[in-house]
Amino acid sequence: MKYIWLDADPGHDDATAILLAVHCPDIKLLGVSTVHGNADAQCTESNAARCLYAYGAPRDVHVYPGATKPLIRPARHDPEIHGIDGLGGVEGLPPPNSAAVLARLGAKGEAVRAVEGIARAIMADRSRKITIVSTGPMTNIALFVSVYPDLLDSVEEFVFMGGGVGMGNRSAVAEFNILCDPEAAQIVLDVPVRKVMIPLNVTHTAIMTRDWHHKLLAPGSIPSDTLPTPTTNLRHMLSTLINFFAESYKSTFGFLDGPPLHDALTIAYVCQPDMFSCKRHRVDIELSGTHTSGETVVDIWDYRSCDDTWGASGKNCLVAESLQVDKFFSLFLDCVDRCDAV
Ligand code: BDR
Ligand code: CA
Repeated sequence: MKYIWLDADPGHDDATAILLAVHCPDIKLLGVSTVHGNADAQCTESNAARCLYAYGAPRDVHVYPGATKPLIRPARHDPEIHGIDGLGGVEGLPPPNSAAVLARLGAKGEAVRAVEGIARAIMADRSRKITIVSTGPMTNIALFVSVYPDLLDSVEEFVFMGGGVGMGNRSAVAEFNILCDPEAAQIVLDVPVRKVMIPLNVTHTAIMTRDWHHKLLAPGSIPSDTLPTPTTNLRHMLSTLINFFAESYKSTFGFLDGPPLHDALTIAYVCQPDMFSCKRHRVDIELSGTHTSGETVVDIWDYRSCDDTWGASGKNCLVAESLQVDKFFSLFLDCVDRCDAV
């Protein structure tokens, strides 16, 4: 069993990561913390709770609100991609202020914040290690590692969606999650714990094409020109999510085949690391470049002499290089089946 904590800024693809975190086999989700990013922190908090409810997550899985802004820089959001509230166009979720959603916020009625939530999850059982997964700006994680360095020996690894090797999506070279809070990302990269980076180069291969969309709507059917009617409410909700996300990616980046499910790959990595190939490198963040702020500088040629620690002087990160795309979508569809069966 893998014990995971998910820190997210839902966000359409974050919502798919939450689905996998709740329904992947052999994963126990301990909690979800939320952060500014795709939308403001109030929206990402309620979106996480709305998703947990829609996915039938166990009642003891709660949402812990975190940082409302980056460590140093002003907050930025991404309505062009995710709509104003972060889950634009998604139908079938409970409204933000419904009792079902409010019941997911905080632990046992207490208002527990992200950093405390992660610490409590670790301290509840020091005999196990937990994996901390990040699918948004890394502000909460940077705060956690700074406030609780003594708990780091209970962290198996940090797995994050962010960055790119020689590419960006919110500047020529910077990826959105890292660009939002570059200083936080560097703090996390310097922590002497194993890290796994899932960059854009790989997430852009996990495209929800029309064929996969077809299989999602009607399991076992043969893909054809018209999309079938969804067989369940969950499949309808996911279909509206995919349609909105696909339109955003078409109009903003010219993606014609479908949207990339970036964030879901983090949980897929925790569940089935063998579907990825990875290489260990030194990774740093450009913090001051005029045109390159927020770039992930991945030392693929080993220019820096590094030791074999995961921290500030070492090759600090496993960087995913490729993904077995069919295996990923099979896992995704399995999780939808499991969710439908709850
Ligand atoms: C990342 O930025 C957000 O738009 C997505 O949720 C994902 O985490 C991709 O760059
Ligand atoms: Ca995200």
